Amino acid sequence: MLSNRVNELTASQTMMVAAKAIKLKSDGVDIIDLSVGEPDFYTPDNIKKSAKAAIDKNITRYTLNQGTYDLRTAISKKLKRENNLDFNVNEIIVSNGAKQSIYNSIIAVVNPGDEVIIPAPYWVSYPSMVQLAGGKIIVIDTNESTGFKVTANQLSKAITEKTKMLILCNPSNPTGTVYHKKDLESLADIVKHNSFYVLADEIYEKLIYDNSEFISFASLGTEIKQKTILVNGISKSYAMTGWRIGYSAASEDIALAINKIQSHTTSSASSISQYAAIEAISGPQHIISEMISEYKKRRDYFYSELTSISGITCHKPEGAFYLFPNISHYLNVKSSEIKLANSLDFSMYLLNEAHVAVVPGSAFGKEGYLRLSYSTNMENLKEAVSRIKSALKNI
Ligand SMILES: Cc1ncc(COP(=O)(O)O)c(C=O)c1O
Repeated sequence: MLSNRVNELTASQTMMVAAKAIKLKSDGVDIIDLSVGEPDFYTPDNIKKSAKAAIDKNITRYTLNQGTYDLRTAISKKLKRENNLDFNVNEIIVSNGAKQSIYNSIIAVVNPGDEVIIPAPYWVSYPSMVQLAGGKIIVIDTNESTGFKVTANQLSKAITEKTKMLILCNPSNPTGTVYHKKDLESLADIVKHNSFYVLADEIYEKLIYDNSEFISFASLGTEIKQKTILVNGISKSYAMTGWRIGYSAASEDIALAINKIQSHTTSSASSISQYAAIEAISGPQHIISEMISEYKKRRDYFYSELTSISGITCHKPEGAFYLFPNISHYLNVKSSEIKLANSLDFSMYLLNEAHVAVVPGSAFGKEGYLRLSYSTNMENLKEAVSRIKSALKNI
């Protein structure tokens, strides 16, 4: 018998699409996979070289639970250099990916019954993590008209005496929304007058286009920094998803709590990955601008093609590598024989008819939308556009 905790977790909405895509691929069908949430680039050579050196130097043992001193020093310097933030090494905990940093942070501060505010559309794992901690999920629905940004007004209405945390993903997965300084300041004003934490998930920090400026939430003042648990990592910025290195930076009491949780669950992240992460964070950074200029080209192409399809609207993302188009025009079309009731039906239709795998908006708490990743080459994007266009002609 499984635990109630696990039984209460909702099965992933994406499972049906993913399972079908795997089946079709194994049957030899040429599937274009736009459901991926990771860079299609390879980890830069200097970082790979550094990992090989770690092995040769026998850096192969457990490290300090909270991460090596050298890596936490590199992160501390990065936070100062790039985000104008002063976090000392004792306030930084390295984990096995940002995902673990987020989970540890939630477990560290959320008591059963505490409310956690999550703006939708949200990254799929936030609600499940809150649920595992026994917290109550309070969803704020955002929409295209505000560029999927949660507003100060919405935030203040959602706050109660039980509010313990707000989870803010900037740049956002799945919408690619980037909060500008004034947006963050108006949220910070509300945060200042209340006593809850902000978990600032900044994993897509470096994937920003159109001269948008990334502002780290914690940098909005001392009071805000005290209330922020900053989460970041190297997975997306340096094409290192498989290396499993993320980190949290927070006031020392929270860092100690996160460290305690980690010491009884996974212990330190991989010694080799930590060594390589120092090179990623402190070594040459030109590779990032090369990746960004490629992502930007793809975004511009894909965005302009998708929005040229009749009935489809889309917020133009300024960050990450996803498009989040509104496909509600194609749902429940009376005159059509093809009846698609929701985004899951629509995704299954695209998979079966166009052989293009995407993620339904419902997986992110937003019905009527889809998430399409442009972390794939131009050739695939061009073919995907052509297949999507022909499949939609039948609806
Ligand atoms: C918004 C968001 N936060 C955190 C993560 C986790 O990143 P990591 O691979 O470092 O665990 C992801 C990965 O998909 C993500 O999209």
